[in-house]
Amino acid sequence: MSDIAKLQIGESTYEFPLVKGSENETAIDIKTLRGATGGVVTIDPGFKNTGSCQSAITFLDGEKGILRYRGYSIEELAEKADFLEVAYLLIFGELPTKEQLDKFYNDILDNAIVDDDIKKIIDAFPKNAHPMGILSSLTSALTAFNPSSVNVDSDEEMYNAIVKIMGKFPVLVAWTMRKKTGMPLHYGSRKLGYVENILTMMFQKPNDEYDINPILLNALDKLLILHADHEQNCSTSTVRVVGSSHAGLFPSLSAGISALWGPLHGGANQAVLEMLEAIKADGGDTKKYMGKAKDKADPFRLMGFGHRVYKNFDPRARIIKKAADEVLGDLGVEDPVLDIAKGLEKEALSDQYFVDRKLYPNVDFYSGIIYRAMGIPVEMFTVMFALGRLPGWIAQWREMRLRKEPIGRPRQVYTGANERSFVKLEDR
Ligand code: ACO
Repeated sequence: MSDIAKLQIGESTYEFPLVKGSENETAIDIKTLRGATGGVVTIDPGFKNTGSCQSAITFLDGEKGILRYRGYSIEELAEKADFLEVAYLLIFGELPTKEQLDKFYNDILDNAIVDDDIKKIIDAFPKNAHPMGILSSLTSALTAFNPSSVNVDSDEEMYNAIVKIMGKFPVLVAWTMRKKTGMPLHYGSRKLGYVENILTMMFQKPNDEYDINPILLNALDKLLILHADHEQNCSTSTVRVVGSSHAGLFPSLSAGISALWGPLHGGANQAVLEMLEAIKADGGDTKKYMGKAKDKADPFRLMGFGHRVYKNFDPRARIIKKAADEVLGDLGVEDPVLDIAKGLEKEALSDQYFVDRKLYPNVDFYSGIIYRAMGIPVEMFTVMFALGRLPGWIAQWREMRLRKEPIGRPRQVYTGANERSFVKLEDR
């Protein structure tokens, strides 16, 4: 194949170089398009055909159902690594040595204390506030308490901002949940591992010890790894675009959390469980809901199905489905909602509508069932997604800054009124 793309507009032909990725993906580099053509732009709503950057962090092949972080398969990482190692790998590019990991974790712990005044902000939220709104606000508020994290002009300043947020974010997540469950805020312990601390900060009662259940620890570690990055999805692109204006790391992350909140993105894990509950309450008739999902006059969609990039099984969904079986089995939980989920999946996989559109279960289809078995309230599910996605967002933000990417500022095709004269209020 030639390494040039030719574009013909009217009588003129323009040439653009092709860019090749390390897995042989091909892109047309149109950086010179406007200049060469005198103002022509491309239009691609939802960026379905647009690469926004070159990135060395995550590779995914939606047709084949492949997901790799820094070259390592998600299956191998979920089985052999822990979340902190994966976070280090994503952010810094290589698996850490024992010394590197110990230093990283010590630096995180040294920066885990959240200013006590943040508690006043938490107090100001109504108890029924959605945890994603609280988390996004608190993450942004951190900037006010850590102004040095805004300007990150040296490697050292960037590293400091990273260990600060890796330390403080789990505290904010746990406090967000404790606000919901009415428990006093908790700091965990330096003696615990990263994910052990998360569980302890979330669940320890003020009048009791908290024994970490290894099944829950393993399940949470796996869930966090599976959610840790997914290249240029909606929230990650948001983090990169906000960060491209040189807003600091924390407000960029806060914007990413807001993007993740939507039910078409991370909010789907909450929406899936609510959908499964509604089907159960309606007598468990999965066929009725399959019919609704296929009816174009009905806005209902089968939540947890379909993906912008995967046109094959989401590899994360396979791992999570197995983990859901294990966790529920090990904990001795019988959840009728799991049976409804399995029933829906079976029907959808053999239904022509879903087959034709290549709609498969995505990462969110089974994760909520595990979170619920762990005792996490439904409204916290997307917060748990954010906790897992944190290292991915950081890695993508860091890469964007290190590559000195220009400010994100797309063009448009204007379709509004042509120039017209202003009409005074009394004459309208
Ligand atoms: N249920 C029923 N039909 C669906 C579904 C679904 N879940 N998803 C897609 N379709 C149909 C669409 O109606 C459309 O049909 P048409 O071609 O007849 O018009 C076709 O499949 C393509 O769908 P699009 O919306 O064009 O696909 P897009 O790539 O824009 O959207 C998305 C992907 C948003 C994930 C979509 O599949 C969806 O809404 N799924 C449910 C929500 C969900 O689970 N989101 C989580 C995604 S994973 C994540 O963010 C972590």
